[in-house]
Amino acid sequence: MHDREKSSSSSRQVDQDPEQETLMRIAISTGGGDAPGLNAVIRAAVLSAINRGWEVLGIKRGYAGLMGDDEVVRLTKDSVRGIAHLGGTILRTTNRGNPFHYPRKLDDGSYEEVDRSDELIENARQLGIDAIVTIGGDGSLSIAKRLCDKGMKIVCVPKTIDNDVSGTITTFGFDTAVNTALEAIDKLHTTAESHDRVMVMEVMGRDAGFIALHSGLAGSADVILIPEIPYDIARVCEKIQARDRAGRHFSIVVVAEGAYPQGGATHTMGESMPGQARRIGGIAENIAREIMVQTGKETRSLVLGHLQRGGMPTGYDRLLATRFGAAAVRAIAAGESGRMVALQSPHIVTIPIEQALAEPKRVDPSHDLVQTARETGISFGD
Ligand code: F6P
Repeated sequence: MHDREKSSSSSRQVDQDPEQETLMRIAISTGGGDAPGLNAVIRAAVLSAINRGWEVLGIKRGYAGLMGDDEVVRLTKDSVRGIAHLGGTILRTTNRGNPFHYPRKLDDGSYEEVDRSDELIENARQLGIDAIVTIGGDGSLSIAKRLCDKGMKIVCVPKTIDNDVSGTITTFGFDTAVNTALEAIDKLHTTAESHDRVMVMEVMGRDAGFIALHSGLAGSADVILIPEIPYDIARVCEKIQARDRAGRHFSIVVVAEGAYPQGGATHTMGESMPGQARRIGGIAENIAREIMVQTGKETRSLVLGHLQRGGMPTGYDRLLATRFGAAAVRAIAAGESGRMVALQSPHIVTIPIEQALAEPKRVDPSHDLVQTARETGISFGD
């Protein structure tokens, strides 16, 4: 299923003659931060596998279930009944479970990282797992690629609210996060306008500003700050003061957590857990302080945080997640491995994992969304 034509012909073949397929046992794992739509992927994958006569196992908490640190459970039609609309993941997840750098606690309380990938593969073999559907972001994709290189059969489903996975027009979870951010912007507008205040709202997006851009543009923000366009706080303040002079005494600033000033660096937050990526965020408060000092305007900041990862997936995300889950199983049925399902509208295709990893997806500053924002008066602080 390497292109649209093959994708649709393999789907037809499966639908017409399911008996001809080899009976398989597949496993599903969810890794990294949760995102609305994970359960819809799991449900679709489980149902389409079981409807082919296959068996499905669920690996709990990333790959921990395959390393003796959690369970591997049988997934049935009953296990996935009524879950498509629920946030989170029934399999649970972790962003500290890289089997190639697995944290091990030492006697003195410190941690070392050990490579437990061979153990994972051996345990999968003993459980008779023919292939794994792994649902995750760029971290999970890198792990999947390395496990494939060691002989595991894996098909990936791209997940992240940040939408920063290449090769797919969008990831599931992104649309829900944008809508959550949009609702918050709408609510902040009323307070900002009533009090003549500047409200600075920080959204997720450690490396990519898609949530900030989409929600900020849809929510009529006045300033959008994203990692792809380093800002100058003086330009941000100029925009706010220009609005003031025009009789608009309030402003809304939407900032991605990974945004940083020209010549500066991303704002980091305290300590991470062993095996976990550096935590970033907290930039909104700094920006609010600087705006207050430079403009003399009353300014407040808000970090929307993990609210963006929770809640019911939107209809768009539920549908995309369901298509991805079914397509991953379809790809396994077609003998594929080392590939990621992707939306290349209007089709769902599969692409090599390395293609998805080759170049990180970022907001293109020349994209029409950025241009549209600028043309409608939004400042990027540059
Ligand atoms: O899901 C991706 C992401 O939302 C990033 O934007 C953010 O930096 C990160 O997750 C935070 O994850 P956690 O708090 O779970 O470590």
